[in-house]
This record gives sequence, structure tokens and C-alpha cells, in this order.
Amino acid sequence: MSRTVKKWAGLTREQLASRWGRESVHLYGAVDSTNDLAKELVEEGAPEGTVVLAREQRAGRGRSGRSWFSPEGGLYLSLVLYPEQIESPGALPVLAGLGVAERLDRAFPGLSPALKWPNDLYVEGRKLAGILCETSWADERPAYLVVGLGLNVRAPKKRPPAAVRGRAAFLDRVLEREVPLLEVADAALAGLEERLRLPCPVLEGATLDRLDRYDWLKGRRARLFPPAESGKGEESEGLPGVSVGIAPDGALLFRPDRGALRRVQSGEVRVEEPGE
Ligand code: BTN
Repeated sequence: MSRTVKKWAGLTREQLASRWGRESVHLYGAVDSTNDLAKELVEEGAPEGTVVLAREQRAGRGRSGRSWFSPEGGLYLSLVLYPEQIESPGALPVLAGLGVAERLDRAFPGLSPALKWPNDLYVEGRKLAGILCETSWADERPAYLVVGLGLNVRAPKKRPPAAVRGRAAFLDRVLEREVPLLEVADAALAGLEERLRLPCPVLEGATLDRLDRYDWLKGRRARLFPPAESGKGEESEGLPGVSVGIAPDGALLFRPDRGALRRVQSGEVRVEEPGE
């Protein structure tokens, strides 16, 4: 059972709904996953723009079946959208990441967030946030889009798991001050909506130019690995090359040292320098 709470960051759901100009905000204490709850709410008829927030997650989910470490002090938010069409599902996490990076950049001078393809935000070479976009289709049209954002705000009191240790960035540490969760949620939600709350969110024209500014991998030497779910990622040494950008369908453009330019739809990229 997921227990609802009266307030999140000091505000009630009615106050948050009015602050963010929407019908529906749901607040929880500890939940398994806000994305799972958002999908349950969709089944119950949740309106466009419904926001689900939790103080912590017990089974936060990431891309490729990974878990998302979700102790108290972080932002765990899911947003329900009903786009009329989705041309390229691969572009969605990139658009979401771009929106959040732009708004954080504006709200927190000195942070310099960047987008690491396909669904991470990086600060100082460490992971600040991850995005999980989940869609369901009915008759070749999107039935819904749930966008989940996990963002490290306060450094946790409990020791992070080995996979996270030394690889995560926390807003309060980077900015060397206490950062109010509400300010982070304001910026993140505005960014997600600006780039995704559209009849058909696409990556093109001016958006691609903006993306170029925030593309953390672009121009970096890196190794390309098969997707984690293929089970081959760990045993392979990876393909060495340089990341050269992101295509309109959200694919990574990767130039291997030997061979032709690749359009990578799914996979892992690790840069060949300290900090990754
Ligand atoms: C990733 O880095 O692979 C994506 C992580 C996404 C985590 C967020 S936290 C809120 C929402 N609920 C989940 O279970 N996952 C997303």
C-alpha cells in the first residue's frame, strides 16, 4: 500500500496544483515507484498534466531494468501526458532531459547541467538525474506517456549502493548550499512540460540547436557498449570512437575509430576519461 501524505515540501496538493496550474497532484510518503502509481492513475482516468510526487521510493526503476536509488531528500516525480502522436519514442527522454537541463541552468546559476544520452543529466562529470519515459499504445496511437524524473537534491544520510557511490552528483553539494526541493520541482516540471506537453513532441530545428549546447557526450572519446538488457555489455570491451551528436529520432551519432558513422538507438556509452 502506498500511503498518501498531506504535504510535500511544505505545501498541500491543492496548493501545488494551483502553483503549477493543473487539476491533479498526488503526494505520497514511501512508494515503490511513482511511475507505477502514475500508470495506475491513468487507468482511473487521470487528467493531462497529473503529477505524482513521493518523498522516497522503495523500488525506483531506471532504464534497462536498473534500479534508481531513491532515499528521502531527492525529487521523485512522474508526469502524465496524452500526446496525440509520438513520431520517435527515442526522442522523448532526450527532449525531457533537454527541458530539465535548460530550466535548471536558468534557476541555479553555476550548476551547468548537461544531458548525457539518452536519459541522464550530468553535473561535474557525475549523474545528477535520470529520466524514464514509458508509453503505451492503442491502435498505433499513444494511449499515454508517463515521464518519470529522479533528481538528486540532498546528499543522503544512508550509504548509497556501490553502483551509485562516487558516480552521483547532489545539488546541495555542487551548489554548496541547501537547495529547496520545491524550487527544483518548479524548474524541472516547467522544463518537462515545455518540451513534452505538446500534441506531437519532436526534436527538430531550433530544439536540435539547443540540444547541441547541452550534449555532454558530443566530441568526447568514448566506448560504445551493447544495451545492458542484451547481457553482452559487461563482457565486451566496447567500441572505441567519438560521439558526434544526436539525431532527430533521438539516436546517438557515434563515429567509431574504424568503420562508418553509427546511429545508435540503444546502448551504453562510457567516456574514456576520468569522471565517467
Ligand atoms: C535512469 O537513469 O535509468 C532513469 C531513472 C528514473 C528514475 C525516476 S524516479 C521517478 C520515477 N519513478 C521511477 O520508478 N523511476 C522514475
